[in-house]
Amino acid sequence: MHARACGTRTPPARTVPARPHRLRRAGAYALPERITARRCPISPTPTPSTQARDFTENYVPEDRALQVARSLAHEVGLVPVRAGAGAALRLMAAAGGARAVVEIGTGTGVSGLWLLAGMRADGVLTTIDVEAEHQRMARRIFLEAGYPASRTRIITGRALDVLPRLSDGAYDVVFVDGDREEHGACVTGALRLLRPGGVLALSGALAGGRIADPAARDPQTVALRELVRSLREAEEWVPALLPVGDGLLVAVKR
Ligand SMILES: C[S@@+](CC[C@H](N)C(=O)[O-])C[C@H]1O[C@@H](n2cnc3c(N)ncnc32)[C@H](O)[C@@H]1O
Repeated sequence: MHARACGTRTPPARTVPARPHRLRRAGAYALPERITARRCPISPTPTPSTQARDFTENYVPEDRALQVARSLAHEVGLVPVRAGAGAALRLMAAAGGARAVVEIGTGTGVSGLWLLAGMRADGVLTTIDVEAEHQRMARRIFLEAGYPASRTRIITGRALDVLPRLSDGAYDVVFVDGDREEHGACVTGALRLLRPGGVLALSGALAGGRIADPAARDPQTVALRELVRSLREAEEWVPALLPVGDGLLVAVKR
């Protein structure tokens, strides 16, 4: 199979050594053993404009409850997920028919509302935050949005203290959006909590673009880059990095 062409600005071809002039048969297709591998340093189509990115982020509009939750987040100085990431979270919850979801970083409830909107009608969102005041706002927003208290389990505490109390293999989705320094430990916790086929989502995976900048060598970026790489290499995960919001790293547990 030939590697996909990358447009006009491709780097020099890298060849994979193989015995020349021989073909391997695979069904009806002849596969050349000498394969030209090319990396795509830029997208084959032009980089999306700011306008196109805004269009993507706002493709699924936010309702009144989400707008209120977002404005409360800004008032208390939090950065909630953007609508594009929220829509992706809703999709993940809906795709797996999620009944049990863990969220680390309740904030004022923006991501929680998106997750609840995708979950089954009898699903329960377990959401953890170290700040009771944030959760007080989120609790009110969830109720005002029409989700009864039975749909949310709001736990105040540090994620790394609370996660060990949650059951193994009992969750369909784990969303990590708390303290960036604890992302690695939360991913380890998520592997234990998720059922096979369950989905991990990690926010802020692009670190404002620093993750892709080799010159960015600060300890936080280096740690995040290592985490993103290790998720790609780990046998337990099937990952993809979505360019929504500040990067949403999603991975299905095998
Ligand atoms: C970016 S905000 C979450 C925003 C929320 N996910 C949303 O999109 O609406 C991060 C939240 O994590 C909480 N947090 C920070 N450190 C934490 C920790 N160690 N354990 C649990 N929550 C933590 C903060 O109080 C804050 O509410």
